[in-house]
Amino acid sequence: TFVVTENCIKCKFTDCVDVCPVDCFHAGPNFLVIDPDECIDCTLCEPECPANAIFAEDEVPEGQEQFIALNAELSKIWPSITEVQPAAADADAWNGKEGKLDLLER
Ligand code: SF4
Ligand code: F3S
Repeated sequence: TFVVTENCIKCKFTDCVDVCPVDCFHAGPNFLVIDPDECIDCTLCEPECPANAIFAEDEVPEGQEQFIALNAELSKIWPSITEVQPAAADADAWNGKEGKLDLLER
């Protein structure tokens, strides 16, 4: 399965949802997650993310392993998202900032 990691937080560009053939993205207030039970490992979303936040489960960067469980948990709670939305005005400024996990809104 593929996993959305920390750099999506407060960027939420949503380019990823446009290419997913099985619509497995789910959206919270400032972060997106992938439902691991729906993802078919097509790899299409990974290069679409301007924040490089999407990784195969076994390639999640060191220190971000907790996002595997977060995607599984939050995808069951948050609604599905299938259409690109405008990113927040300050999304580019947050791209690459560290320590964003504390800013994740549920
Ligand atoms: Fe969707 Fe494919 Fe990305 Fe999985 S790898 S979330 S199926 S686009
Ligand atoms: Fe997030 Fe990247 Fe998608 S920033 S919303 S995973 S395009």
